[in-house]
Formats: sequence, structure tokens, C-alpha cells
Amino acid sequence: MSDAPSSAETIEGQRSYLLPSMLHLYEEPLVLDEGLGVRVKDPEGKEYLDLFAGILTTSVGHCNPHVVDAMSRQMGRLGHVSTLYATEPQVEAARMIAEIAPGGLRRTFFTNSGTEAIETALMMACVATGRSEIIALRVGYHGRSFMATSVTAHSGWRPLATPVAGIKHALSPNPYRCPFKQPCDETCVDKWIDDLEEVIVTTTNGRPAAFIAETIMGVAGFVTPPNGYFEKAAEVIRAYGGLLIIDEVQAGFARTGRHWFGIEHHGVDPDIMVMAKGIANGAPVGATITTDEVAHAWAGKTISTFGGTPISMAALCATQEQMRTHDAPNNAEARGKQLRTALEAMQAEHPWMGDVRGMGLMQGIEIVRDPMTKEPDLARTKALLEASREEGLLIGVGGLSGTVIRIGPSLLITEDEMAEGIEKLGRAVERVGT
Ligand SMILES: Cc1ncc(COP(=O)(O)O)c(C=O)c1O
Repeated sequence: MSDAPSSAETIEGQRSYLLPSMLHLYEEPLVLDEGLGVRVKDPEGKEYLDLFAGILTTSVGHCNPHVVDAMSRQMGRLGHVSTLYATEPQVEAARMIAEIAPGGLRRTFFTNSGTEAIETALMMACVATGRSEIIALRVGYHGRSFMATSVTAHSGWRPLATPVAGIKHALSPNPYRCPFKQPCDETCVDKWIDDLEEVIVTTTNGRPAAFIAETIMGVAGFVTPPNGYFEKAAEVIRAYGGLLIIDEVQAGFARTGRHWFGIEHHGVDPDIMVMAKGIANGAPVGATITTDEVAHAWAGKTISTFGGTPISMAALCATQEQMRTHDAPNNAEARGKQLRTALEAMQAEHPWMGDVRGMGLMQGIEIVRDPMTKEPDLARTKALLEASREEGLLIGVGGLSGTVIRIGPSLLITEDEMAEGIEKLGRAVERVGT
């Protein structure tokens, strides 16, 4: 038993002192007190196998000793200076990212969150092109600031009726809910691309600054655009003189398996790429990387007090070292296959699992009332979430209707740990019925 206050006390404190709009996954909030690897514990000592990793963030496991050690040593040496000074941890972090980033991406600006990194990317594109209109995808999610919620196209995450002007949304390439053809096939790619072009020529002045998209749409419920989409989308936005911004906040850093970044599966080189979440195993780091050319276009001054702070940079470098030592891209691919095979076997027995999708260790299950009508089933999704909790398993949710189970554990998860997670999930699935 931990010496921390009880779950009930923490929940009471949360209700008294924190914003009520903060989302919690369960009927009764789950309080977490300690973690190691893929396991976390509540203050009463109940253990959970964590297949959601703090929203795909503890990429090399909770309290990874190598990361903890690197952060502690850096904290005792030099904790903070701001971007007004040069520090080796920041240079080393940028160098490590440039080594694995696709194409000509080379120059990074560090911030403290995905949202800030998105803001930086959008501003960078507008500054570099001298334009101000942005195209994004419907159901996409890019963060919580004024600008980021405006690029986000998911009503539940947009508190303002009047968002930032100049942002337009194209159809999301969602094969499961394809409006053109069922079952959707490769001919649908051109239809989504036609829509993207139509958005540019009908709703903008024809001179967009950028198109921004996630390679797997995380909050949307791991919507996975088909092959060919990004290649053609890049051609369209560049034909109109705009830049391609790829948001790898969820899909980056080996999450999708085999490669370091989701966009590498599509053979496309972005002009700007945004990273956060798994980049530093939970230390607050956002990063925006771009080419020399785009970077040099930013003529004005810029600064961040906490961005690139040595402790976070030490966490980033140590996380990268762990990912490289343990070959995270290939482990994510192998463990992703193990999980996917099991999910498809469950789907064969349970028609309410309407769609199983994703790549690597980013796998989702869309839950429907009937596989023919595809009507979302919120009640069953919530029941599965609660049943998993009772089985000692953490999974996430997403999707426009909140009816997609999201699974995204540590990229270093072992075969046995994954087998245990599959077994627990299988029991939870049986409990919520056929
Ligand atoms: C794809 C994507 N972009 C940006 C963000 C914003 O990141 P943060 O919550 O760190 O601000 C998120 C967060 O979930 C995300 O999933």
C-alpha cells in the first residue's frame, strides 16, 4: 500500500480545485500513483497493465530507469536557462531527431506540448509562404489552443463558435466510413483528393499556406488514410504553392512500426513535421522540424522560456537511446502484428467490433450496434472500458462519437506482456457480450 492519499481523497481534491471540463475516461475517475514499465498502480495498490501509455506517451515504459537517471543527472547539473543560451542537451536532441527525420527536415524548434508545436508549425508555414489560409481534415485533432482548436475539426473539442478565420476542412480519408463506395477501394483515394482540391479552389483564395494532417488520425479513433492519399495530397497542396505539415504527435517515434514516422510508410517528405507525446517518454516536449529553406524564412525573433530546457532534452535523448537500443520500430511492428491478429480473431466472434484498424502499436476497434448500419454503440464502448478496468487493463477511447477503443502501449512491450494484455482484453470483451 502506498503512503499517498486515498483515491477518494484525490478525487475529492480534483473535484474541488481543477477545471470541471477536464475529461476522465471512466464513470469514477481512476487515480494513478506509481508506474514501472507497462504497469501502473492506484493508491490502494491495485495494478493495471497499461496499453494506453498516458495517451501513447510513455513510449519506453513508465519510469524507464535510463530516462529517470538521465533526467536526474541533468537536474543536478543544470536545470534551466531558456532558449537565450545554447546548451548541449538541446543541440544533441535536435541532432538525434534530424538523424531519423525524413527528407530534408533538419532544423527543430522545441516547445512544451503538441499544441505549441502545432502553433509553431502553422505560424512557420504562414511566415514562409506569406499566406494565411490553412487546410486541415475533418475529425482531425491538433491541440487545445485557440488556433489548434480551430484546425481541429471535432465539435466536442472546439469550445468556441467563432474560431480563427482562414481555416478550411476537407473530408477525412476514412475507409470504414467512406462516403463514395462500400467497401471502399483504391479508387476512392482520387475522390478524397478531388475534395481537397475543391476545398482549395472554392473556399480559399486559391493560395493556401499549408495542408496539415495526421498520418493516423489519433483522436478521430485511429482513422488510417489509405495508401496513395498522402502522395496525392502533397502534390495538390504543392501545386497551389502551399506547404505540407505532417502532425506526428501520436503516430511518430516508431509508433506505427518499421519506420520512425508514420509518413515514411507513404514515401512522402513533409515540409514541416510536428512531434510531441512519445518523444521524451512523458517529459513535456513538443518539437517542430523543418527544412533549411523554411527555417530561414522565419526572419523575426522567437523565444521559449521552457522550450528546449535541459531536463526535457535529457529525457528526449535518453528516450531516443532506449528506442534505438531496443529497436523500437521493429518491436512495434512485431508486437503490433501480435495484437492485430488477436483483435481480428475477437472481431470474428463479435460483430459489434465493426472495424479493427491502425498500424504497429496504434490499433483501434470501432464499436457499432450493427456491422451493416455501422451505428456507433456508445453504451457498449463504455461497458468495455469499465470491464477492462475491472480486469486490470488500461485502454483508451476516441472517435467522433467516442466509440473507438484505442490501444497504444509502450513501444518496448514484450511478447509476454502483450499476450497478458490480449488475455485481459479478451475477458473484458466476453463480459460485454457477443
Ligand atoms: C495529433 C495530435 N496533435 C496535437 C496534439 C496536441 O498535443 P498536446 O496535448 O501535447 O498539446 C494531440 C494531442 O492529443 C494530438 O493527438
